Parts: sequence; C-alpha cells; structure tokens
Amino acid sequence: MQFTTVLASLVLAATSVHALPGSPVQERQATPTIYARFYPDTGCNGQWVDDTVYVESTGTNACVNNTITASIKSTFFSGNIATRTLRVYSQPGCPATGNYFDLPAGTNNCYAQTVGSARFL
Ligand SMILES: *[C@@H]1O[C@H](CO)[C@@H](O)[C@H](O)[C@H]1NC(C)=O
Repeated sequence: MQFTTVLASLVLAATSVHALPGSPVQERQATPTIYARFYPDTGCNGQWVDDTVYVESTGTNACVNNTITASIKSTFFSGNIATRTLRVYSQPGCPATGNYFDLPAGTNNCYAQTVGSARFL
C-alpha cells in the first residue's frame, strides 16, 4: 500500500514537470509524432540512409516534402503515437493524383514505396 502511494507520487511528480499550471489537458500530452527510417532496398533491410520525424499538429496539417536526396525504396515507421492517419505520397507536393499509402495512427511497419511527401489527414 505504501509502496503504491510512493509510486503514484513519483508518477505525479514526473508528469507535473511538463505541465504548465492551468494549461488544457491536450497541451499537457506528448506531441504526436512518428519516426521514419528510410532504406535503399524495398524491405527495410540493411543500412538505412536517412531518417525524419513527422510531427502531427492540431487543425490542418501542411504537406511535408521529403528533402532527402538518397534513393528511398522503403520506409520503416516506428514510435507511432500519432492520433491521425499519415498519408505518404510517392511524389512531392502531396498531389491528388499518383501513388500514396495510408499509415494508420499507432501502426509501426515497413512500407515499400518511395517517399516524396506526406501529410496528416
Ligand atoms: C513541395 O514540393 C512541391 C512540388 O515540387 C512544391 O510545389 C511545393 O512548393 C513544395 N512545398 C514546400 C513546402 O516546399
């Protein structure tokens, strides 16, 4: 019982470090992000060539172009704590036409497609 109380106090103390007094609940939660590692092969194997973090913001999310010049044939997404789907396009500029795939919130997996741009839906 006492041990549980101590633990609970520790958790509360750790949580309060990031909380601003009077801030809404949503602002106290971690920023929804997805980590992506880019691979030159189609199966997320071998040495990854670059990485990036997709940051979900509230409201309309802007299209994020891929600025990596290395050839990308697959991407492994991990640490997905996003609350919305990330749509990943093969072309830059998030075009309405052309190839894309949808990475659902919370999904960590390898996707075989080049990455030109991405946007949270
Ligand atoms: C992304 O790329 C497209 C196509 O090249 C371009 O039209 C658009 O301005 C770029 N967006 C940003 C934010 O750089």
